[in-house]
Amino acid sequence: MDGRTVLVTGASSGIGRASAIGLAQLGATVLLTGRDEQRTRAVEASIVRAGGQARASLLDLSDPSAIDGFASQLRDELGRLDGLVHAAGALSRSFAENVEGMELTVATHVLGPFRLSWRLAPLLARADGAVIVTVASGGMYTERFDLPSLVMNRDEYQGVRAYARSKRAQVLLAHEWQRRWQRDGVSSFVMHPGWTDTPGLAQSLPNFHRLGPLLRRPEEGADTVVWLASGAANEDTVRDSGIWLDRRRRSEYYLPWTRPRTSALEDGVQLWAWCEQRTGLGPTDQPR
Ligand SMILES: NC(=O)c1ccc[n+]([C@@H]2O[C@H](COP(=O)([O-])OP(=O)(O)OC[C@H]3O[C@@H](n4cnc5c(N)ncnc54)[C@H](OP(=O)(O)O)[C@@H]3O)[C@@H](O)[C@H]2O)c1
Repeated sequence: MDGRTVLVTGASSGIGRASAIGLAQLGATVLLTGRDEQRTRAVEASIVRAGGQARASLLDLSDPSAIDGFASQLRDELGRLDGLVHAAGALSRSFAENVEGMELTVATHVLGPFRLSWRLAPLLARADGAVIVTVASGGMYTERFDLPSLVMNRDEYQGVRAYARSKRAQVLLAHEWQRRWQRDGVSSFVMHPGWTDTPGLAQSLPNFHRLGPLLRRPEEGADTVVWLASGAANEDTVRDSGIWLDRRRRSEYYLPWTRPRTSALEDGVQLWAWCEQRTGLGPTDQPR
């Protein structure tokens, strides 16, 4: 990946960190973001120490104005962006909101990535075959996409369900990027890493974390991210359906009641319109 520049969100820890390191090892210049300054800078330092190229920035994906500022800085500095990895994420056990009063899980997993991708779309369109990789979760298999119940309010909030619903929405969003932006040379893939031993898992699902040796190491969880972001999935495999695990495209549904009421396409279009409306970005669907 010499000469290619890839942005990885959530790179201060776990799967995002391992993805950033893996991409740097392949020769990419990695722009990495996190919220925790010390950990984000430590990842940058370890990549540079190993002879790679990295630059750390602080970015809270739930904060719309922070995303706008960060993206505008990148647009001033870069001629193009070859890859964008949406790895930032968290399962919040308790209800919280962002600065605009949007429930935090949806703000971080859905609206943040929508806004960041939108703002960076001109840079992606200028690359020769840019790739977006979204790190969703197998947790989404338990939930059907249903726009009215995507944003949970304080009284009904259950962290695991909010997480699963937002991860299901991420799958649709990733397919919409593929469908809408492929004519600009942008490919979009969505993957899930499998149960991976990370600080995030230890904090949010301590019972799973006790599985210890059965869990994947962060580099194993990140393997498909790095593989997809490097452009290894060939043209034939770029489609606007399916979720990747271990370098293979898998079904998005294992439980019959999680299938779309009408069609996944309709759900994706509906979600896209909602994201445009909530972010104030739209109505055009072209990278500009
Ligand atoms: N571990 C698993 O088994 C597993 C399974 C399925 C899916 N995933 C997904 O994999 C991704 C990485 O998770 P992980 O397990 O590696 O967890 P992790 O170790 O906690 O790492 C999460 C990363 O996301 C960042 N982050 C969280 N909320 C953010 C926000 N609002 N704005 C910006 N950055 C934010 C964190 O930044 P700071 O630490 O700097 O705050 C950190 O860099 C997530 O999207 C998660 O849903 C993980």
